[in-house]
Amino acid sequence: LALTAFLLLLAYLLGSVSGSLLLGRFRNIDIREHGSGNAGGTNALRTLGWKFALGVAVIDIAKGALAAWLALRYAPLGTGLTVTAHGYLAAALAVVGHVWPIWHGFRGGKGAATGVGGLLVLWPWIVPVLLLVWILVLVSTGYVGLSTVVAALCLPLAAWLFDAGPERMSFAIVIGLFLAWTHRANLVRLWHGKESRFERARLLYR
Ligand code: G3P
Repeated sequence: LALTAFLLLLAYLLGSVSGSLLLGRFRNIDIREHGSGNAGGTNALRTLGWKFALGVAVIDIAKGALAAWLALRYAPLGTGLTVTAHGYLAAALAVVGHVWPIWHGFRGGKGAATGVGGLLVLWPWIVPVLLLVWILVLVSTGYVGLSTVVAALCLPLAAWLFDAGPERMSFAIVIGLFLAWTHRANLVRLWHGKESRFERARLLYR
């Protein structure tokens, strides 16, 4: 049980390493004071350019993947939790770390990229499916936040359609709803017509 606790704590600490805030420190910039105020890849692209955003995305995805992979690899037996449960719990805690990072005053991002990282290890083939949904909404609307919410809500739907086991099902429901909740400000802005739009991403219905 001590090892389980350690793996989950490690997942939270890894999740707390925020790509945008870490890279921002090298450039003496706190991304939370710019653009949408979100510490994530989308706002990095909006305010600091694609190279910076790519670095942010790589870090935020990689830490989710690493947390899940470490938990699967070193999950102890005989704790009452399956190896798969260790993986999904670690992925969820990495997302929590990204949203409330201990290293950055508990003010982090929205957790989507980190969740994708975990899924790349735990349920790899669902990632291109969600990515397709995300791209379709993005090219039709130009709103990244909306695309992410729709893709996140497809996660529990996919788990239900593909008859997922209890660990995967729980993760899909909890993280799918959690990501919709972390994007609540985007939905409110959208409602009031104030959400910023990537016009160049809007290839359909211009
Ligand atoms: O996951 C973050 C993205 O979906 C929205 O970011 O900066 O538009 O709030 P932002």
